[in-house]
Amino acid sequence: MNTTLPAAILSIEGDIAILAINHPPVNALSQVVRESLVKGMTQAQANPAVRAIVLICEGRTFLAGADITEFGKPPQSPSLFEAQDAIELGNKPVIAAIHGTSLGGGFEVALCCHYRVAVPSAKCGLPEVHLGLLPGAGGTQRLPRIVGAAKALDMITGGLHVKAAECLAMGLLDELVPEGQLREGALAFARKVIDEKRPLRKVRDLDGKMLGARAHPELFVEFRKANARKFRGFLAPEYNIRCIEAAVNLPFTEGMQTERKLFLELVSGPQSIAQRYAFFAERQAAKIPDLPTDTPVVKVAKVGIIGAGTMGGGIAMNFANVGIPVVLIETAQDALDRGLAVVRRNYENTVKRGRLSKDAMENRLALLTGSLNMQSLSDCDLVIEAVFEDMAVKKTIFAQLDAIAKPGAVLATNTSALDVNEIASAVKRPEAVVGMHFFSPANVMKLLEVVRGAKTSNTALATAMDIGKKIGKVAVMSGVCPGFIGNRILRARGLQAQAMLMEGCMPWDIDRVLYEFGMPMGPFAMSDLAGLDLGWSAATSQSSTIREVLCEKGRRGQKTGAGYYDYDEARNAHPSEVTQGIITEFMQRSGQVRRDISDTEILERCLFAMVNEACKILDEGIAIRASDIDVVWINGYGWPVYRGGPMHYADSIGRRVIADKLKAYGTLMGADFHISPSLEKS
Ligand code: 3HC
Repeated sequence: MNTTLPAAILSIEGDIAILAINHPPVNALSQVVRESLVKGMTQAQANPAVRAIVLICEGRTFLAGADITEFGKPPQSPSLFEAQDAIELGNKPVIAAIHGTSLGGGFEVALCCHYRVAVPSAKCGLPEVHLGLLPGAGGTQRLPRIVGAAKALDMITGGLHVKAAECLAMGLLDELVPEGQLREGALAFARKVIDEKRPLRKVRDLDGKMLGARAHPELFVEFRKANARKFRGFLAPEYNIRCIEAAVNLPFTEGMQTERKLFLELVSGPQSIAQRYAFFAERQAAKIPDLPTDTPVVKVAKVGIIGAGTMGGGIAMNFANVGIPVVLIETAQDALDRGLAVVRRNYENTVKRGRLSKDAMENRLALLTGSLNMQSLSDCDLVIEAVFEDMAVKKTIFAQLDAIAKPGAVLATNTSALDVNEIASAVKRPEAVVGMHFFSPANVMKLLEVVRGAKTSNTALATAMDIGKKIGKVAVMSGVCPGFIGNRILRARGLQAQAMLMEGCMPWDIDRVLYEFGMPMGPFAMSDLAGLDLGWSAATSQSSTIREVLCEKGRRGQKTGAGYYDYDEARNAHPSEVTQGIITEFMQRSGQVRRDISDTEILERCLFAMVNEACKILDEGIAIRASDIDVVWINGYGWPVYRGGPMHYADSIGRRVIADKLKAYGTLMGADFHISPSLEKS
């Protein structure tokens, strides 16, 4: 007999009860799910015929965590703790049957079950740290009791999704059951538990794994030190560590109190609010209101990439990583060989770091071929042009491609700033042309700007967005304008940074302020890394800007050991007297008088100029929503996610306040500076 609950069905097979949760899309632990857990467990416990209970989920995944949309709202009963107690403190063994992802609160529920089985494709983890949180339903207390403090630190502060086989090896799972046979496997396991009269094993009672860390508290000191750079600016990792320390040193119930107190602090704090916002913003970005969800996409079975430079090679790796064959086109054999060798070296480094097996590397490399003949693109479903930024060259290439590419193929350009409409004008099928702007290093950076041209078809757009997701990128749509969303905002910041050099700041002053704000580096360190000679030519250089003079002096960035900064052998940056001299000379020549510029002014002029540009991007419809801009800056430029992106940051300060400040800076902002109409009105 089946009992229907708000988000589950309870059924009985012989002496085993099966509680099957069904709450699409990801079985998050919303109020109805918690209620179903409490009711289902209570009924199964009360039924004298039942001797074991299997907790399983319908749909694509096991419980994927607490319902994040409920945070910050008044709590609704029953609480997650009540649901967990209904499982753990009952007098019948409960077996969690896991498929998909058992994450956060979902895994914390599984840890309250007395046994856990999973299919091999399942993953488990406590990813709360990515939301600026800590596992707040006992995860920080139970997980270390199974895997020990050292592994718990890695898993929890890294928010890792751990594969089932590894979970089994660590004791987080008791058994793997065949793929596709979770229900049968879990029932068979439950049978064993009954027949062998296995005990009601409660993770909270385990202590053995805590002894090692209790005797070696330096473990925590060392862990903090080793990860200081990675955790810089974030509150949650430290709070997670404190909870694991509590698990090691305090009785379970006291550890739970520490976890609760720190969780409540985090969940109401600005960092977690920003990180939760970013989570939903990322998912929003995939949705384009005027693109019907049933738009057909091109099935991408083979990709062509024109240009085997750093960018082309990096882009190619993304496709090889997911099993899609790629042909890389170059004009000369040595350039092709160099490009393929760089790709091989990148993979070899990943193998050395233990993050890829040698076999997997060879499989991926086997998917990459090189060619000097554009005709090799004739069977590609998607071609991405990744040559240097020269409109004439790009148009010539697209015209050639037009004659070669098969009908229906999507023709993409990786341009970072040029007019996609003009590039599309070089072909007879402009509807097939779309921008796919990857960020360097293209095999690492998560962002993909998908640029919709005036004539881009829905299918070309949908294909670019779809394949972006398949290769693990966060795809954000942008309209056509110089620099699109990301680089256009970068330029607005750069103009202020350059202007402040002429008013009395040194590059390291500006970089320091932005680094302290949480950026991975400031604009000058970034220019040094990218190379100051990008787009510079000795033949046309006229010593008219600081950058030109630096390049003329051979200071072309990190690669030459000097740029705005001096670099030592370990590539550490040091303030440079040469650069200071050049800047001072420029100031004297233009009659500028040095003034003291506060850190606040540096920050405001850089960031508020970015916000202003972002608002213009919205005013012009280049971005379709404010949160898309935030997704671009978080994933493409390292804007600290705990500050939620430039638009979220603007809202946290108040757009009106920003508009007033910008007005107060007046002419300092530059002769061409205008406040965005929408910011003005705010
Ligand atoms: N709460 C509310 N909604 C959620 C959610 C959650 N925990 N997880 C996913 N969703 C929503 C998404 O917003 C999305 O909604 P949409 O369709 O309206 O845009 C939908 O579910 C599908 O999500 P994805 O597009 O991300 O689907 P994928 O299949 O790509 O990924 C997933 C599935 C791996 C489960 C991924 O959604 C994910 O990582 N979810 C978050 C997991 C997590 O962080 N859990 C911890 C939550 S905090 C917690 O548990 C606190 C506890 O310790 C007390």
